[in-house]
Amino acid sequence: MEIDIQLVPFPPDSDILLGRTVVVIDVLRATSVMVHAMSQGASEIIPVATVEEAFQMRKVLLQRSVILGGERGSKKIPGFDLGNSPKEYVAERVKGKKLILTTTNGTKAFHLVSTAKKILVGSFLNIGVTAQKCLELNRDLLIFPSGDEGNFSLEDNLCGGMLIEQIMKKSGKRIALTDASHCVQILYERYKANIVEAFRLSHHGKELIKRGFGEDLVYCAQMDITNIVPEFKDGVIRTD
Ligand code: MLT
Repeated sequence: MEIDIQLVPFPPDSDILLGRTVVVIDVLRATSVMVHAMSQGASEIIPVATVEEAFQMRKVLLQRSVILGGERGSKKIPGFDLGNSPKEYVAERVKGKKLILTTTNGTKAFHLVSTAKKILVGSFLNIGVTAQKCLELNRDLLIFPSGDEGNFSLEDNLCGGMLIEQIMKKSGKRIALTDASHCVQILYERYKANIVEAFRLSHHGKELIKRGFGEDLVYCAQMDITNIVPEFKDGVIRTD
């Protein structure tokens, strides 16, 4: 098994994706929201790239059980039911509901890797079980941090480093790492004792604090608070 990580969110070659497991990561905050919403009983999540698509999709689905969530500039979108703070996605709001989600980076990332064999939703909230699932799938792995408007994101790559570390620890077999994977392992070593410190240093972390979402940094840094690994398939995120 080889583990690679796409340090900057360029669309990977479809040849690279064929046969691989991909883990998409946007810890601040899209994949943390997805994992949290599913752990609170959301029936499925449809990640879409634009606000217009989200409204259009709601019209097509025409169901009472549909809610719209997401952000632009980190803030709730006018006409939407929920913003992009994981804590908003509690059972009372999301249980049994289909969630149409659009965010600046995270929801788009899924569409960039949609031809991969298996696409998982990763975050600190479900990191241990995601590592376990990657091992069970026993295929080469590409970790895909969704980045910060096309740029490298410290927080997502740090989470990638922890995922690699956990896979290596749990595996009895030889795992090959690319240079990029070694890099994020070093990043993880530097910040493993204080994930929130790294979040606070990151560009997006600083923006969230400025916009009044500082509490989300602490929330999204929690590890292993759920044992679900949502999967993106045919445009929809579900759990088994
Ligand atoms: C994103 O997808 O870019 C993020 O989740 C943004 C945010 O929540 O502020």
